[in-house]
Amino acid sequence: MDTGLAGKVVLITGAARGLGRQAAEAFAREGARIAVLDSSEEGSALAAEELSEISETYRLTADVSREDSVEKAVSSLLKQWKTIDVLIHCAGIARGPEQKGPDGWLPMEQVALDDWQRVLSVNLTGTFLLNRAAARSMIDQRWGRIVNVASISAMVANRGLAGLGPYAASKGGVISLTKVLAVEWAAYGITVNSISPGYMATEMGVRSQTMPGFKELQLSLIPQGRLGDPDEFAAAAMFLASAQAGHITGHNLVIDGGYTAW
Ligand SMILES: NC(=O)c1ccc[n+]([C@@H]2O[C@H](COP(=O)([O-])OP(=O)(O)OC[C@H]3O[C@@H](n4cnc5c(N)ncnc54)[C@H](O)[C@@H]3O)[C@@H](O)[C@H]2O)c1
Repeated sequence: MDTGLAGKVVLITGAARGLGRQAAEAFAREGARIAVLDSSEEGSALAAEELSEISETYRLTADVSREDSVEKAVSSLLKQWKTIDVLIHCAGIARGPEQKGPDGWLPMEQVALDDWQRVLSVNLTGTFLLNRAAARSMIDQRWGRIVNVASISAMVANRGLAGLGPYAASKGGVISLTKVLAVEWAAYGITVNSISPGYMATEMGVRSQTMPGFKELQLSLIPQGRLGDPDEFAAAAMFLASAQAGHITGHNLVIDGGYTAW
């Protein structure tokens, strides 16, 4: 199947590790040019260096929650490659910097406003800023593909984890925003979809497994009895960005091994 992605400029946020890193590799193997964006300078440098052995890469260090930082990164990318064809927006955080209970999570009644605001600004405001910046170039060329990353936390409360309110609210916002953008930008040949992973085998997905009994509970809640593989996320992101998915827009694709099915 020719995905039509060879030579396309694909901007991937949160590409230093986890789902973003895996997606970057999958798109690179497809022959796409990869712009690796992450807030971690060291992480984005390493990822870009490794990916450059597969395809052309361009490294960007930016904080997706900051307008000036996003605009600077995007204009640097446009100077380099003139266009953005695909945005895969993976950058996100699960909790704020102060949200630390004995097991890493504080119950909602103890969540500080600063933590609430940090999670909302990275996950939701970041999605707005990246989508807006990428869409300008896509509107000019009357073609584009955007894949945002939400979560099953937008649909169900995660059993066994307290304090995920800011995260759940931010990801619910990502799904709603995705639908609005899909409708507004349909006329320009841009599709906008979201993917909602369940628990995936990345640093974020396994962090809570150190809590006593949590790993067993987590796996028992997934009908397939296993975490998702980042490869499975990358394949879905690539499909939504492919030529074949041209009529799919405003969709939220759940990849959770059945977590939300029962
Ligand atoms: N792993 C899971 O189980 C899971 C489940 C549901 C949804 N998700 C979502 O998938 C996405 C990727 O998750 P992951 O598991 O790869 O996480 P991860 O923590 O392994 O990687 C996230 C990456 O985003 C970067 N990042 C964080 N804040 C940033 C910012 N302000 N600006 C730029 N980059 C920033 C980090 O440096 C890191 O490289 C996130 O949006 C997450 O909410 C993950």
